[in-house]
Amino acid sequence: MTRIDSSPTKPLSASTVVHASHEPSEWWRDAVIYQVYPRSFADADGDGIGDLPGITSRLPHLAALGIDALWLSPFYRSPQKDAGYDVADYRAVDPLFGTLEDFDVLLEQAHERGIRIIVDLVPNHTSDQHVWFQEALRSPAGSPARARYMFRDGKGADGSTPPNNWQSIFGGPAWTRLPASEDDGPAGPQWYLHLFDTSQPDLDWSNDEVKAEFEDVLRFWLDKGVDGFRIDVAHGMVKADGLPDWSGKTSMVEGTEKPAEQVVDPGAPEDGLVDTSVNGPMFDQDGVHDIYRAWHQVLAEYDGDRCLVAEAWVEPMERLARYVRADEMHQAFNFAFLTTEWDASRLRDIVAESLEMSDSVGAPTTWVLSNHDVSRHASRLGYEDASQRPAGTAGIKPTDPQPDEALGIKRARAASLLMLGLPGSAYVYQGEELGLPDHIMIPDEARQDPSFFRTNGEEIGRDGCRVPIPWEAAAPGYGFGPTGKTWLPQPPSYGTYAADQQRDVEGSTFEMYRRALEVRGEAELGSGSLAWVDEYQGSSDVVALLNRDVVVLTNLGTEAVTLPVGAEVLVASGDHATATEDSGARVPRDTTVWFRV
Ligand code: NOJ
Repeated sequence: MTRIDSSPTKPLSASTVVHASHEPSEWWRDAVIYQVYPRSFADADGDGIGDLPGITSRLPHLAALGIDALWLSPFYRSPQKDAGYDVADYRAVDPLFGTLEDFDVLLEQAHERGIRIIVDLVPNHTSDQHVWFQEALRSPAGSPARARYMFRDGKGADGSTPPNNWQSIFGGPAWTRLPASEDDGPAGPQWYLHLFDTSQPDLDWSNDEVKAEFEDVLRFWLDKGVDGFRIDVAHGMVKADGLPDWSGKTSMVEGTEKPAEQVVDPGAPEDGLVDTSVNGPMFDQDGVHDIYRAWHQVLAEYDGDRCLVAEAWVEPMERLARYVRADEMHQAFNFAFLTTEWDASRLRDIVAESLEMSDSVGAPTTWVLSNHDVSRHASRLGYEDASQRPAGTAGIKPTDPQPDEALGIKRARAASLLMLGLPGSAYVYQGEELGLPDHIMIPDEARQDPSFFRTNGEEIGRDGCRVPIPWEAAAPGYGFGPTGKTWLPQPPSYGTYAADQQRDVEGSTFEMYRRALEVRGEAELGSGSLAWVDEYQGSSDVVALLNRDVVVLTNLGTEAVTLPVGAEVLVASGDHATATEDSGARVPRDTTVWFRV
Protein backbone atom coordinates (compact mmCIF):
# COMPACT_ATOMS: atom_id res chain seq x y z
CA MET A 1 0.00 0.00 0.00
CA THR A 2 1.59 3.28 -1.01
CA ARG A 3 1.05 6.06 1.42
CA ILE A 4 0.99 9.46 -0.20
CA ASP A 5 0.59 12.40 2.09
CA SER A 6 0.59 15.80 0.59
CA SER A 7 3.26 17.98 2.06
CA PRO A 8 1.46 19.97 4.74
CA THR A 9 3.02 23.22 3.70
CA LYS A 10 3.14 23.07 -0.08
CA PRO A 11 -0.05 24.22 -1.82
CA LEU A 12 -1.53 21.65 -4.17
CA SER A 13 -1.23 21.97 -7.93
CA ALA A 14 -3.50 20.57 -10.62
CA SER A 15 -2.01 20.61 -14.09
CA THR A 16 -3.76 17.74 -15.90
CA VAL A 17 -6.95 19.34 -17.11
CA VAL A 18 -9.56 16.84 -18.26
CA HIS A 19 -12.59 19.07 -18.61
CA ALA A 20 -13.16 22.82 -18.81
CA SER A 21 -15.96 24.67 -17.05
CA HIS A 22 -18.80 26.23 -19.02
CA GLU A 23 -21.28 28.96 -18.46
CA PRO A 24 -24.37 27.41 -16.88
CA SER A 25 -26.83 27.09 -19.79
CA GLU A 26 -29.61 24.52 -20.20
CA TRP A 27 -30.75 23.41 -16.75
CA TRP A 28 -30.14 19.70 -17.38
CA ARG A 29 -26.42 20.17 -17.99
CA ASP A 30 -25.59 20.44 -14.31
CA ALA A 31 -28.80 19.34 -12.58
CA VAL A 32 -29.07 17.01 -9.61
CA ILE A 33 -31.98 14.76 -10.54
CA TYR A 34 -33.71 12.67 -7.88
CA GLN A 35 -35.32 9.41 -8.94
CA VAL A 36 -38.69 8.69 -7.41
CA TYR A 37 -39.87 5.10 -7.71
CA PRO A 38 -43.55 5.88 -7.09
CA ARG A 39 -44.54 2.48 -5.66
CA SER A 40 -42.03 2.90 -2.86
CA PHE A 41 -41.75 6.60 -2.13
CA ALA A 42 -44.78 7.61 -0.06
CA ASP A 43 -48.30 6.20 0.23
CA ALA A 44 -51.12 8.71 0.76
CA ASP A 45 -54.16 6.40 0.45
CA GLY A 46 -52.94 3.65 2.77
CA ASP A 47 -53.03 0.68 0.37
CA GLY A 48 -49.34 -0.03 0.96
CA ILE A 49 -48.28 1.21 -2.49
CA GLY A 50 -46.86 4.68 -2.98
CA ASP A 51 -48.81 7.16 -5.09
CA LEU A 52 -48.72 10.61 -6.68
CA PRO A 53 -50.39 12.44 -3.74
CA GLY A 54 -47.77 10.76 -1.54
CA ILE A 55 -45.01 12.28 -3.64
CA THR A 56 -46.67 15.70 -3.48
CA SER A 57 -46.88 15.43 0.30
CA ARG A 58 -43.13 14.83 0.52
CA LEU A 59 -42.07 17.72 -1.70
CA PRO A 60 -40.83 19.66 1.36
CA HIS A 61 -38.27 16.87 2.02
CA LEU A 62 -37.07 17.11 -1.57
CA ALA A 63 -36.96 20.89 -1.53
CA ALA A 64 -34.95 20.81 1.71
CA LEU A 65 -32.52 18.42 0.09
CA GLY A 66 -31.97 20.92 -2.69
CA ILE A 67 -32.43 18.79 -5.80
CA ASP A 68 -33.22 20.38 -9.18
CA ALA A 69 -35.54 17.82 -10.72
CA LEU A 70 -37.43 14.60 -10.15
CA TRP A 71 -37.47 11.65 -12.49
CA LEU A 72 -40.63 9.62 -11.86
CA SER A 73 -40.55 5.94 -12.77
CA PRO A 74 -43.80 4.86 -14.53
CA PHE A 75 -47.14 5.61 -12.91
CA TYR A 76 -49.23 4.86 -16.02
CA ARG A 77 -52.11 2.42 -16.31
CA SER A 78 -50.52 -0.99 -16.06
CA PRO A 79 -51.19 -4.49 -14.79
CA GLN A 80 -47.94 -4.05 -12.81
CA LYS A 81 -46.31 -7.27 -14.00
CA ASP A 82 -43.01 -5.38 -14.10
CA ALA A 83 -43.87 -2.72 -11.54
CA GLY A 84 -45.26 -0.35 -14.16
CA TYR A 85 -42.65 -0.90 -16.90
CA ASP A 86 -45.49 -2.77 -18.63
CA VAL A 87 -47.69 0.09 -19.81
CA ALA A 88 -51.28 -0.52 -20.88
CA ASP A 89 -52.17 3.13 -21.49
CA TYR A 90 -49.47 5.77 -21.94
CA ARG A 91 -51.85 8.67 -21.35
CA ALA A 92 -53.54 7.50 -18.15
CA VAL A 93 -52.50 7.28 -14.51
CA ASP A 94 -53.02 3.87 -12.94
CA PRO A 95 -55.63 4.07 -10.15
CA LEU A 96 -52.97 2.61 -7.83
CA PHE A 97 -51.08 5.89 -8.16
CA GLY A 98 -54.00 8.32 -8.41
CA THR A 99 -55.42 10.33 -11.28
CA LEU A 100 -54.28 12.70 -14.01
CA GLU A 101 -55.45 15.54 -11.76
CA ASP A 102 -53.12 14.25 -9.05
CA PHE A 103 -50.32 14.41 -11.59
CA ASP A 104 -51.21 18.00 -12.48
CA VAL A 105 -51.15 18.96 -8.80
CA LEU A 106 -47.75 17.33 -8.32
CA LEU A 107 -46.34 19.04 -11.40
CA GLU A 108 -47.69 22.42 -10.37
CA GLN A 109 -46.47 22.18 -6.78
CA ALA A 110 -43.06 20.90 -7.84
CA HIS A 111 -42.71 23.74 -10.35
CA GLU A 112 -43.72 26.26 -7.69
CA ARG A 113 -40.76 25.01 -5.66
CA GLY A 114 -38.44 25.24 -8.66
CA ILE A 115 -38.30 21.44 -9.04
CA ARG A 116 -38.64 20.13 -12.59
CA ILE A 117 -40.28 16.83 -13.52
CA ILE A 118 -39.01 14.17 -15.89
CA VAL A 119 -41.35 11.27 -16.66
CA ASP A 120 -40.49 7.77 -17.83
CA LEU A 121 -41.30 6.63 -21.37
CA VAL A 122 -41.34 2.91 -22.15
CA PRO A 123 -41.25 2.62 -25.95
CA ASN A 124 -39.56 -0.75 -26.49
CA HIS A 125 -42.59 -2.75 -25.41
CA THR A 126 -46.15 -2.32 -24.19
CA SER A 127 -48.08 -4.39 -21.69
CA ASP A 128 -49.95 -7.35 -23.15
CA GLN A 129 -53.06 -5.53 -21.83
CA HIS A 130 -52.49 -2.56 -24.18
CA VAL A 131 -55.37 -2.19 -26.70
CA TRP A 132 -52.94 -2.70 -29.57
CA PHE A 133 -51.73 -6.06 -28.30
CA GLN A 134 -55.25 -7.20 -27.51
CA GLU A 135 -56.25 -6.25 -31.06
CA ALA A 136 -53.21 -8.11 -32.42
CA LEU A 137 -54.29 -11.24 -30.56
CA ARG A 138 -57.71 -11.06 -32.19
CA SER A 139 -56.25 -10.40 -35.67
CA PRO A 140 -54.75 -12.82 -38.15
CA ALA A 141 -51.07 -13.24 -39.06
CA GLY A 142 -50.02 -10.55 -41.51
CA SER A 143 -52.67 -8.08 -40.32
CA PRO A 144 -51.86 -4.39 -39.63
CA ALA A 145 -52.61 -5.04 -35.94
CA ARG A 146 -49.90 -7.71 -35.75
CA ALA A 147 -47.49 -5.48 -37.69
CA ARG A 148 -47.15 -3.13 -34.71
CA TYR A 149 -45.37 -5.89 -32.78
CA MET A 150 -42.69 -8.46 -33.55
CA PHE A 151 -44.84 -11.43 -34.56
CA ARG A 152 -43.12 -14.18 -36.57
CA ASP A 153 -43.83 -17.71 -37.73
CA GLY A 154 -41.83 -20.37 -35.91
CA LYS A 155 -39.24 -22.58 -37.53
CA GLY A 156 -39.77 -26.17 -38.65
CA ALA A 157 -42.62 -27.72 -40.64
CA ASP A 158 -45.19 -26.99 -37.93
CA GLY A 159 -43.57 -23.76 -36.75
CA SER A 160 -42.99 -25.17 -33.30
CA THR A 161 -39.40 -23.91 -32.93
CA PRO A 162 -39.04 -20.23 -31.91
CA PRO A 163 -38.00 -17.83 -34.71
CA ASN A 164 -34.53 -17.46 -33.18
CA ASN A 165 -32.56 -18.37 -30.07
CA TRP A 166 -32.80 -15.08 -28.17
CA GLN A 167 -33.24 -15.22 -24.42
CA SER A 168 -35.35 -12.87 -22.33
CA ILE A 169 -33.39 -10.53 -20.09
CA PHE A 170 -35.56 -11.75 -17.22
CA GLY A 171 -34.69 -15.40 -18.02
CA GLY A 172 -36.20 -18.01 -20.33
CA PRO A 173 -36.84 -17.69 -24.08
CA ALA A 174 -37.59 -14.27 -25.58
CA TRP A 175 -40.43 -15.71 -27.68
CA THR A 176 -43.88 -16.88 -26.67
CA ARG A 177 -46.22 -18.77 -28.98
CA LEU A 178 -49.89 -17.85 -29.21
CA PRO A 179 -52.49 -20.50 -28.48
CA ALA A 180 -53.75 -22.37 -31.54
CA SER A 181 -56.69 -20.83 -33.41
CA GLU A 182 -58.74 -21.82 -36.44
CA ASP A 183 -57.28 -18.89 -38.44
CA ASP A 184 -53.74 -20.30 -38.18
CA GLY A 185 -51.89 -20.94 -41.44
CA PRO A 186 -49.66 -23.96 -42.13
CA ALA A 187 -46.98 -22.65 -39.77
CA GLY A 188 -49.46 -22.83 -36.92
CA PRO A 189 -49.80 -20.11 -34.28
CA GLN A 190 -47.31 -17.27 -34.48
CA TRP A 191 -44.71 -16.29 -31.89
CA TYR A 192 -44.13 -12.82 -30.46
CA LEU A 193 -40.89 -11.34 -29.20
CA HIS A 194 -40.51 -10.06 -25.65
CA LEU A 195 -37.02 -9.07 -24.56
CA PHE A 196 -38.41 -8.85 -21.02
CA ASP A 197 -41.42 -10.62 -19.47
CA THR A 198 -44.00 -12.50 -21.60
CA SER A 199 -46.41 -9.73 -20.62
CA GLN A 200 -44.16 -7.10 -22.31
CA PRO A 201 -44.39 -7.66 -26.10
CA ASP A 202 -41.79 -5.72 -28.13
CA LEU A 203 -43.09 -3.13 -30.56
CA ASP A 204 -41.90 -3.04 -34.17
CA TRP A 205 -40.23 0.33 -34.60
CA SER A 206 -40.17 0.10 -38.40
CA ASN A 207 -43.95 0.58 -38.23
CA ASP A 208 -45.11 4.14 -38.97
CA GLU A 209 -48.11 3.88 -36.68
CA VAL A 210 -45.81 3.06 -33.76
CA LYS A 211 -43.62 6.06 -34.54
CA ALA A 212 -46.60 8.40 -34.83
CA GLU A 213 -48.17 7.11 -31.62
CA PHE A 214 -45.09 7.75 -29.50
CA GLU A 215 -44.58 11.23 -30.91
CA ASP A 216 -48.14 11.87 -29.88
CA VAL A 217 -47.50 10.48 -26.38
CA LEU A 218 -44.49 12.80 -26.07
CA ARG A 219 -46.69 15.74 -26.99
CA PHE A 220 -49.38 14.70 -24.52
CA TRP A 221 -46.95 15.01 -21.60
CA LEU A 222 -45.08 17.98 -23.04
CA ASP A 223 -48.39 19.83 -23.35
CA LYS A 224 -48.98 19.09 -19.67
CA GLY A 225 -45.68 20.79 -18.91
CA VAL A 226 -43.21 18.00 -18.12
CA ASP A 227 -39.57 18.95 -18.41
CA GLY A 228 -38.27 15.76 -19.99
CA PHE A 229 -38.38 12.03 -20.46
CA ARG A 230 -36.22 9.16 -19.29
CA ILE A 231 -36.27 6.67 -22.15
CA ASP A 232 -36.48 3.05 -21.05
CA VAL A 233 -34.32 0.52 -22.94
CA ALA A 234 -33.27 3.27 -25.33
CA HIS A 235 -30.82 0.91 -27.01
CA GLY A 236 -33.36 -1.82 -27.74
CA MET A 237 -36.07 -0.48 -30.00
CA VAL A 238 -34.53 -1.52 -33.33
CA LYS A 239 -33.45 -5.11 -33.92
CA ALA A 240 -30.92 -6.30 -36.52
CA ASP A 241 -32.44 -7.20 -39.89
CA GLY A 242 -33.45 -10.83 -40.12
CA LEU A 243 -33.31 -11.25 -36.33
CA PRO A 244 -30.15 -13.41 -36.48
CA ASP A 245 -29.41 -16.01 -33.83
CA TRP A 246 -26.98 -14.87 -31.15
CA SER A 247 -25.19 -16.93 -28.59
CA GLY A 248 -24.27 -14.10 -26.22
CA LYS A 249 -26.09 -13.51 -22.97
CA THR A 250 -28.00 -10.31 -22.34
CA SER A 251 -28.51 -8.97 -18.90
CA MET A 252 -29.91 -5.56 -18.17
CA VAL A 253 -27.64 -4.67 -15.32
CA GLU A 254 -24.51 -6.63 -16.07
CA GLY A 255 -24.16 -5.65 -19.70
CA THR A 256 -23.88 -8.25 -22.40
CA GLU A 257 -21.56 -11.20 -22.45
CA LYS A 258 -19.91 -11.62 -25.81
CA PRO A 259 -20.76 -14.85 -27.59
CA ALA A 260 -17.98 -17.40 -27.97
CA GLU A 261 -17.92 -16.77 -31.69
CA GLN A 262 -18.46 -13.10 -32.27
CA VAL A 263 -21.38 -12.55 -34.64
CA VAL A 264 -20.31 -10.27 -37.43
CA ASP A 265 -22.48 -7.22 -37.65
CA PRO A 266 -24.29 -7.46 -40.99
CA GLY A 267 -24.25 -3.71 -41.64
CA ALA A 268 -21.13 -1.63 -41.14
CA PRO A 269 -21.60 0.80 -38.25
CA GLU A 270 -22.82 4.17 -39.40
CA ASP A 271 -19.69 6.06 -38.45
CA GLY A 272 -17.28 3.16 -38.63
CA LEU A 273 -16.45 3.53 -34.95
CA VAL A 274 -16.86 0.10 -33.44
CA ASP A 275 -18.37 -3.25 -34.25
CA THR A 276 -21.80 -3.23 -32.60
CA SER A 277 -21.99 -7.00 -32.21
CA VAL A 278 -20.72 -6.76 -28.63
CA ASN A 279 -24.18 -5.51 -27.66
CA GLY A 280 -26.07 -8.23 -29.52
CA PRO A 281 -28.46 -7.98 -32.51
CA MET A 282 -31.27 -6.82 -30.24
CA PHE A 283 -29.38 -3.79 -28.94
CA ASP A 284 -27.66 -0.63 -30.09
CA GLN A 285 -28.60 -0.86 -33.75
CA ASP A 286 -27.91 2.25 -35.81
CA GLY A 287 -31.62 2.69 -36.55
CA VAL A 288 -32.41 3.78 -32.98
CA HIS A 289 -30.71 7.08 -33.65
CA ASP A 290 -33.27 8.06 -36.30
CA ILE A 291 -35.96 7.77 -33.62
CA TYR A 292 -34.09 10.10 -31.27
CA ARG A 293 -33.42 12.64 -34.01
CA ALA A 294 -37.17 12.77 -34.65
CA TRP A 295 -37.94 13.12 -30.93
CA HIS A 296 -35.32 15.83 -30.55
CA GLN A 297 -37.28 17.85 -33.09
CA VAL A 298 -40.53 17.30 -31.20
CA LEU A 299 -39.01 18.58 -27.96
CA ALA A 300 -37.40 21.52 -29.74
CA GLU A 301 -40.88 22.79 -30.61
CA TYR A 302 -41.48 23.40 -26.91
CA ASP A 303 -39.99 26.15 -24.77
CA GLY A 304 -37.97 25.64 -21.62
CA ASP A 305 -35.16 23.21 -22.52
CA ARG A 306 -37.03 19.91 -22.28
CA CYS A 307 -34.74 16.91 -22.27
CA LEU A 308 -34.42 13.25 -23.22
CA VAL A 309 -32.38 10.91 -21.04
CA ALA A 310 -31.20 7.57 -22.40
CA GLU A 311 -31.23 4.37 -20.40
CA ALA A 312 -28.85 2.53 -22.69
CA TRP A 313 -26.68 -0.30 -21.40
CA VAL A 314 -24.20 -0.24 -24.27
CA GLU A 315 -20.47 -0.67 -24.49
CA PRO A 316 -17.97 0.76 -25.13
CA MET A 317 -18.46 4.35 -24.15
CA GLU A 318 -18.00 5.62 -27.71
CA ARG A 319 -21.25 3.86 -28.52
CA LEU A 320 -23.02 5.55 -25.62
CA ALA A 321 -21.80 8.97 -26.75
CA ARG A 322 -23.72 8.48 -30.00
CA TYR A 323 -27.03 8.69 -28.08
CA VAL A 324 -26.22 12.22 -26.93
CA ARG A 325 -25.00 13.77 -30.16
CA ALA A 326 -26.21 17.33 -30.63
CA ASP A 327 -29.37 16.38 -32.53
CA GLU A 328 -30.36 13.35 -30.43
CA MET A 329 -30.89 12.90 -26.70
CA HIS A 330 -29.54 15.27 -24.08
CA GLN A 331 -28.18 12.91 -21.44
CA ALA A 332 -27.41 9.20 -21.02
CA PHE A 333 -27.01 7.35 -17.75
CA ASN A 334 -23.37 6.59 -17.02
CA PHE A 335 -23.63 2.95 -15.97
CA ALA A 336 -19.88 2.48 -16.41
CA PHE A 337 -19.41 4.79 -13.41
CA LEU A 338 -22.07 2.91 -11.42
CA THR A 339 -20.38 -0.44 -12.04
CA THR A 340 -16.82 0.73 -11.30
CA GLU A 341 -15.16 -0.97 -8.36
CA TRP A 342 -14.05 0.87 -5.24
CA ASP A 343 -10.58 1.44 -6.62
CA ALA A 344 -8.80 4.78 -7.04
CA SER A 345 -7.20 4.25 -10.41
CA ARG A 346 -10.31 2.66 -11.94
CA LEU A 347 -12.46 5.52 -10.68
CA ARG A 348 -10.04 8.10 -12.09
CA ASP A 349 -10.01 6.31 -15.45
CA ILE A 350 -13.77 6.11 -15.72
CA VAL A 351 -14.27 9.73 -14.67
CA ALA A 352 -11.77 10.94 -17.28
CA GLU A 353 -13.14 8.66 -19.98
CA SER A 354 -16.71 9.74 -19.25
CA LEU A 355 -15.86 13.43 -19.47
CA GLU A 356 -13.79 13.05 -22.62
CA MET A 357 -16.49 11.02 -24.29
CA SER A 358 -19.34 13.38 -23.52
CA ASP A 359 -17.19 16.42 -24.32
CA SER A 360 -16.52 14.90 -27.74
CA VAL A 361 -20.22 15.35 -28.58
CA GLY A 362 -20.89 18.45 -26.49
CA ALA A 363 -23.16 16.66 -23.99
CA PRO A 364 -22.98 16.80 -20.20
CA THR A 365 -21.67 13.73 -18.42
CA THR A 366 -24.03 12.10 -15.95
CA TRP A 367 -23.12 10.31 -12.74
CA VAL A 368 -25.22 7.69 -11.01
CA LEU A 369 -24.59 5.16 -8.25
CA SER A 370 -27.98 3.57 -7.59
CA ASN A 371 -31.39 3.06 -9.16
CA HIS A 372 -34.37 0.68 -9.00
CA ASP A 373 -32.59 -2.00 -11.03
CA VAL A 374 -29.36 -2.42 -9.07
CA SER A 375 -28.27 -3.21 -5.55
CA ARG A 376 -28.01 0.04 -3.60
CA HIS A 377 -24.44 1.30 -3.40
CA ALA A 378 -24.55 1.17 0.42
CA SER A 379 -24.83 -2.60 0.01
CA ARG A 380 -22.67 -3.08 -3.09
CA LEU A 381 -19.72 -1.32 -1.50
CA GLY A 382 -19.94 -3.20 1.79
CA TYR A 383 -17.43 -5.90 0.88
CA GLU A 384 -13.90 -5.52 2.26
CA ASP A 385 -12.87 -8.28 -0.09
CA ALA A 386 -14.47 -7.30 -3.39
CA SER A 387 -14.23 -10.88 -4.70
CA GLN A 388 -16.90 -11.85 -2.13
CA ARG A 389 -19.41 -9.61 -3.79
CA PRO A 390 -21.93 -11.44 -5.97
CA ALA A 391 -21.27 -10.92 -9.67
CA GLY A 392 -23.24 -8.16 -11.33
CA THR A 393 -25.22 -5.46 -9.66
CA ALA A 394 -28.76 -6.79 -9.58
CA GLY A 395 -29.29 -8.09 -6.08
CA ILE A 396 -27.68 -9.86 -3.15
CA LYS A 397 -29.23 -13.15 -2.03
CA PRO A 398 -29.77 -14.16 1.59
CA THR A 399 -27.38 -17.06 0.90
CA ASP A 400 -24.61 -14.88 -0.61
CA PRO A 401 -21.70 -13.59 1.48
CA GLN A 402 -23.22 -10.61 3.27
CA PRO A 403 -21.98 -7.02 3.03
CA ASP A 404 -20.74 -5.24 6.12
CA GLU A 405 -23.41 -2.58 6.74
CA ALA A 406 -21.09 -0.10 8.47
CA LEU A 407 -18.43 -0.37 5.78
CA GLY A 408 -21.08 -0.10 3.08
CA ILE A 409 -22.58 3.12 4.44
CA LYS A 410 -19.16 4.67 5.02
CA ARG A 411 -18.07 3.99 1.46
CA ALA A 412 -21.48 4.87 0.04
CA ARG A 413 -21.26 8.31 1.63
CA ALA A 414 -17.73 8.74 0.32
CA ALA A 415 -18.78 7.62 -3.17
CA SER A 416 -21.80 9.93 -3.19
CA LEU A 417 -19.74 12.91 -2.11
CA LEU A 418 -17.21 12.16 -4.83
CA MET A 419 -20.03 11.92 -7.38
CA LEU A 420 -21.69 15.17 -6.31
CA GLY A 421 -18.35 16.98 -6.65
CA LEU A 422 -17.94 16.05 -10.31
CA PRO A 423 -18.92 18.37 -13.15
CA GLY A 424 -22.04 17.27 -15.02
CA SER A 425 -25.46 16.10 -13.97
CA ALA A 426 -25.91 13.70 -11.03
CA TYR A 427 -28.71 11.24 -10.31
CA VAL A 428 -29.75 10.41 -6.75
CA TYR A 429 -32.01 7.38 -6.17
CA GLN A 430 -34.67 7.82 -3.49
CA GLY A 431 -33.37 6.76 -0.09
CA GLU A 432 -29.69 7.06 -0.89
CA GLU A 433 -29.80 10.45 0.82
CA LEU A 434 -30.74 8.45 3.93
CA GLY A 435 -27.93 5.93 3.35
CA LEU A 436 -30.36 3.04 2.87
CA PRO A 437 -28.92 -0.41 2.24
CA ASP A 438 -30.85 -3.12 0.36
CA HIS A 439 -33.27 -5.33 2.23
CA ILE A 440 -31.51 -8.59 1.45
CA MET A 441 -33.56 -10.93 3.65
CA ILE A 442 -36.93 -10.52 1.93
CA PRO A 443 -38.64 -13.92 2.18
CA ASP A 444 -39.21 -15.63 -1.18
CA GLU A 445 -42.99 -15.51 -0.76
CA ALA A 446 -42.87 -11.70 -0.54
CA ARG A 447 -40.75 -11.22 -3.69
CA GLN A 448 -42.33 -9.49 -6.67
CA ASP A 449 -39.69 -9.06 -9.39
CA PRO A 450 -40.53 -11.09 -12.53
CA SER A 451 -36.84 -11.94 -12.97
CA PHE A 452 -36.98 -13.90 -9.67
CA PHE A 453 -39.83 -16.04 -10.98
CA ARG A 454 -38.56 -16.42 -14.55
CA THR A 455 -35.23 -17.76 -13.30
CA ASN A 456 -36.79 -19.93 -10.56
CA GLY A 457 -35.06 -17.80 -7.97
CA GLU A 458 -31.61 -18.21 -9.50
CA GLU A 459 -31.56 -14.44 -9.94
CA ILE A 460 -32.82 -12.84 -6.79
CA GLY A 461 -34.03 -9.78 -8.67
CA ARG A 462 -34.38 -6.16 -7.75
CA ASP A 463 -36.86 -6.12 -4.86
CA GLY A 464 -34.12 -5.45 -2.30
CA CYS A 465 -33.49 -1.92 -3.61
CA ARG A 466 -37.21 -1.12 -4.02
CA VAL A 467 -38.34 -1.35 -0.41
CA PRO A 468 -40.68 1.46 0.79
CA ILE A 469 -38.91 4.49 2.22
CA PRO A 470 -38.78 4.96 6.01
CA TRP A 471 -39.99 8.45 6.91
CA GLU A 472 -40.71 8.25 10.65
CA ALA A 473 -38.94 5.79 12.94
CA ALA A 474 -41.79 5.43 15.43
CA ALA A 475 -44.70 5.10 13.00
CA PRO A 476 -46.07 1.80 11.63
CA GLY A 477 -44.39 1.03 8.29
CA TYR A 478 -41.89 3.72 9.32
CA GLY A 479 -44.38 6.33 8.17
CA PHE A 480 -44.54 5.11 4.57
CA GLY A 481 -48.31 5.53 4.66
CA PRO A 482 -51.19 6.04 7.08
CA THR A 483 -51.95 2.33 7.62
CA GLY A 484 -48.47 0.86 8.08
CA LYS A 485 -48.99 -1.39 5.05
CA THR A 486 -46.03 -1.73 2.68
CA TRP A 487 -46.03 -3.70 -0.61
CA LEU A 488 -42.59 -5.12 0.23
CA PRO A 489 -41.51 -5.76 3.83
CA GLN A 490 -39.06 -3.29 5.38
CA PRO A 491 -36.08 -4.53 7.42
CA PRO A 492 -35.98 -3.58 11.13
CA SER A 493 -32.81 -1.54 10.53
CA TYR A 494 -34.80 0.96 8.43
CA GLY A 495 -36.01 2.65 11.62
CA THR A 496 -32.54 4.03 12.29
CA TYR A 497 -32.35 5.38 8.74
CA ALA A 498 -35.76 7.10 8.84
CA ALA A 499 -35.82 10.65 7.52
CA ASP A 500 -37.03 12.08 10.84
CA GLN A 501 -33.92 10.64 12.53
CA GLN A 502 -31.66 12.50 10.13
CA ARG A 503 -33.17 15.88 9.35
CA ASP A 504 -31.23 18.63 11.16
CA VAL A 505 -28.98 16.00 12.76
CA GLU A 506 -25.35 16.92 12.32
CA GLY A 507 -23.33 14.21 10.61
CA SER A 508 -26.39 12.39 9.24
CA THR A 509 -26.33 11.21 5.65
CA PHE A 510 -29.27 13.48 4.83
CA GLU A 511 -27.43 16.53 6.16
CA MET A 512 -24.30 15.53 4.23
CA TYR A 513 -26.28 15.43 0.98
CA ARG A 514 -28.03 18.68 1.81
CA ARG A 515 -24.76 20.46 2.56
CA ALA A 516 -23.09 18.98 -0.52
CA LEU A 517 -25.90 20.20 -2.79
CA GLU A 518 -25.72 23.63 -1.20
CA VAL A 519 -21.97 23.93 -1.80
CA ARG A 520 -22.29 22.36 -5.25
CA GLY A 521 -24.80 25.07 -6.16
CA GLU A 522 -22.90 27.99 -4.64
CA ALA A 523 -19.56 26.94 -6.14
CA GLU A 524 -21.20 26.00 -9.48
CA LEU A 525 -19.52 22.60 -9.45
CA GLY A 526 -22.09 21.08 -11.82
CA SER A 527 -20.96 23.35 -14.63
CA GLY A 528 -17.40 23.27 -13.34
CA SER A 529 -14.08 21.84 -14.45
CA LEU A 530 -11.91 18.87 -13.65
CA ALA A 531 -8.15 18.72 -13.27
CA TRP A 532 -6.31 16.00 -11.37
CA VAL A 533 -4.38 17.18 -8.33
CA ASP A 534 -0.75 16.49 -9.25
CA GLU A 535 0.28 15.27 -5.82
CA TYR A 536 -2.09 12.30 -6.04
CA GLN A 537 -1.91 11.44 -9.75
CA GLY A 538 -0.94 7.80 -9.96
CA SER A 539 -1.77 7.13 -6.31
CA SER A 540 -3.38 3.76 -5.79
CA ASP A 541 -5.21 5.11 -2.75
CA VAL A 542 -6.48 8.60 -3.48
CA VAL A 543 -8.72 10.26 -6.04
CA ALA A 544 -8.17 14.02 -5.86
CA LEU A 545 -9.51 16.51 -8.33
CA LEU A 546 -9.93 20.24 -8.60
CA ASN A 547 -13.35 21.46 -9.73
CA ARG A 548 -13.27 25.27 -10.08
CA ASP A 549 -11.67 26.25 -6.73
CA VAL A 550 -12.84 23.21 -4.76
CA VAL A 551 -10.68 20.13 -4.22
CA VAL A 552 -12.62 16.88 -3.99
CA LEU A 553 -10.51 14.19 -2.35
CA THR A 554 -11.49 10.58 -1.70
CA ASN A 555 -9.22 8.37 0.36
CA LEU A 556 -9.68 4.73 -0.70
CA GLY A 557 -6.52 3.51 1.01
CA THR A 558 -5.98 2.22 4.53
CA GLU A 559 -3.85 5.12 5.83
CA ALA A 560 -5.14 8.57 6.66
CA VAL A 561 -4.25 11.39 4.24
CA THR A 562 -3.16 14.78 5.57
CA LEU A 563 -4.53 17.89 3.90
CA PRO A 564 -2.40 21.02 3.43
CA VAL A 565 -2.25 23.38 6.41
CA GLY A 566 -4.97 25.97 6.12
CA ALA A 567 -7.22 23.84 3.92
CA GLU A 568 -10.81 24.76 4.67
CA VAL A 569 -13.00 21.65 4.72
CA LEU A 570 -16.40 22.47 3.21
CA VAL A 571 -18.11 19.12 3.57
CA ALA A 572 -16.96 15.66 4.58
CA SER A 573 -18.47 12.19 4.27
CA GLY A 574 -17.08 11.08 7.63
CA ASP A 575 -15.11 12.17 10.65
CA HIS A 576 -11.85 13.87 9.96
CA ALA A 577 -9.33 15.00 12.52
CA THR A 578 -9.34 18.76 12.61
CA ALA A 579 -6.41 20.80 11.44
CA THR A 580 -4.02 22.42 13.89
CA GLU A 581 -1.78 25.42 13.27
CA ASP A 582 0.99 23.33 11.79
CA SER A 583 -0.77 20.23 10.56
CA GLY A 584 -3.67 19.93 8.12
CA ALA A 585 -6.85 17.94 8.70
CA ARG A 586 -6.43 14.17 8.45
CA VAL A 587 -8.82 12.28 6.22
CA PRO A 588 -9.27 8.62 7.23
CA ARG A 589 -9.91 5.71 4.87
CA ASP A 590 -13.13 5.48 2.82
CA THR A 591 -13.82 9.17 3.29
CA THR A 592 -14.34 12.06 0.86
CA VAL A 593 -13.78 15.70 1.72
CA TRP A 594 -14.32 18.86 -0.27
CA PHE A 595 -11.94 21.66 0.64
CA ARG A 596 -10.49 24.94 -0.51
CA VAL A 597 -6.82 25.81 -0.15
C1 NOJ B 1 -35.42 -0.92 -17.57
C2 NOJ B 1 -36.16 -0.55 -16.33
O1 NOJ B 1 -35.36 0.31 -15.57
C3 NOJ B 1 -36.49 -1.84 -15.63
O2 NOJ B 1 -36.97 -1.63 -14.34
C4 NOJ B 1 -37.47 -2.60 -16.48
O3 NOJ B 1 -37.73 -3.86 -15.89
C5 NOJ B 1 -36.93 -2.83 -17.88
N1 NOJ B 1 -36.31 -1.66 -18.44
C6 NOJ B 1 -38.02 -3.25 -18.83
O4 NOJ B 1 -38.86 -2.15 -19.09
